[in-house]
Amino acid sequence: MAFSKMRLLYAFVLVVGALCLYLYIALYKELPFVFKRSAGKFLQLPDVDCRQNPPFLVLLVTSSHKQMAARTAIRKTWGRDRTVRGQQVRTLFLLGASDSTDEMAATAQESQEHRDIIQKDFKDVYYNLTLKTMMGMEWVHHFCPQATFVMKTDSDMFVNVGYLTELLLRKNKTTRFFTGYLKLNDFPIRSKFNKWFVSKFEYPWDKYPPFCSGTGYVFSSDVARQVYNVSESVPFLKLEDVFVGLCLAKLKIRPEELHSKQTFFPGGLRFSVCRFQKIVACHHVTPSNLLTYWQALESSREEDCAAV
Ligand SMILES: *[C@@H]1O[C@H](CO)[C@@H](O)[C@H](O)[C@H]1NC(C)=O
Ligand SMILES: *[C@@H]1O[C@H](CO)[C@@H](O)[C@H](O)[C@H]1NC(C)=O
Ligand SMILES: *[C@@H]1O[C@H](CO)[C@@H](O)[C@H](O)[C@H]1NC(C)=O
Repeated sequence: MAFSKMRLLYAFVLVVGALCLYLYIALYKELPFVFKRSAGKFLQLPDVDCRQNPPFLVLLVTSSHKQMAARTAIRKTWGRDRTVRGQQVRTLFLLGASDSTDEMAATAQESQEHRDIIQKDFKDVYYNLTLKTMMGMEWVHHFCPQATFVMKTDSDMFVNVGYLTELLLRKNKTTRFFTGYLKLNDFPIRSKFNKWFVSKFEYPWDKYPPFCSGTGYVFSSDVARQVYNVSESVPFLKLEDVFVGLCLAKLKIRPEELHSKQTFFPGGLRFSVCRFQKIVACHHVTPSNLLTYWQALESSREEDCAAV
């Protein structure tokens, strides 16, 4: 009798143990990732002296090792000028680390040449975009709090830096300011095969806080410090734009419009000179289109569009 009770107990322990192991393995991938805002070290830093020469606007462009052509096109077009409408402007690229030593060497070389790369030693993959964005926030906080505004954007974007500068000067709001393509009523996507799938484990709530499309958003530089400061105390999310939205909600900073007309186009926009003179950002622009658009804009005159 005692013997079979013992066996029952062993069996019970075994089953419970197996169940725990199964749950652990099943959930391991989804265990909440604790974000350490200052984790990792900087591998590359740009040559920008913000104390000597405070920029009006710093453009931080998320990029990957393979997007060399996009960086080259940006350096020749909207990322080129250091002075725009009389204001200091700098365009910098955000990169992580690659497993390929060749890619790492090429990036180090590119950084030496252009001095416009911010790189840390996290793995450069799409689902680490939040780390990449937070690296940008950290960089502004540590190395460039003197900047007035910061834009975070992507490598496949057209940015009208001149018009953005003009609108920021006109808006004249230099603290607790956050703008872009507003997403005020977005929901988590629960279908597994979607690129933006978020499980209930990662984000249990049914609605996202207000945020701006990650394709391009602009903020006063104090926001970088504040977002950086609260980033460890909000739930980590791989969707960087929503994650920044969670930080803003905690800070009670509400994203707002930059202009009465739409100026951010996360879904893309057909090119015309007159149209692109009066937008801030447009998504889905290939390097070769960017060069073509830029040439057309450079050789146009604003007056020609006055009637449009
Ligand atoms: C993001 O980077 C970290 C640090 O390098 C790495 O441990 C992690 O696996 C990366 N995330 C993904 C989804 O690959
Ligand atoms: C910008 O706002 C400040 C107050 O916040 C004001 O003193 C200044 O005159 C404004 N500048 C312009 C150009 O409107
Ligand atoms: C960071 O947040 C803490 C509270 O979590 C606050 O006391 C502190 O003033 C903040 N620092 C900055 C620089 O905003």
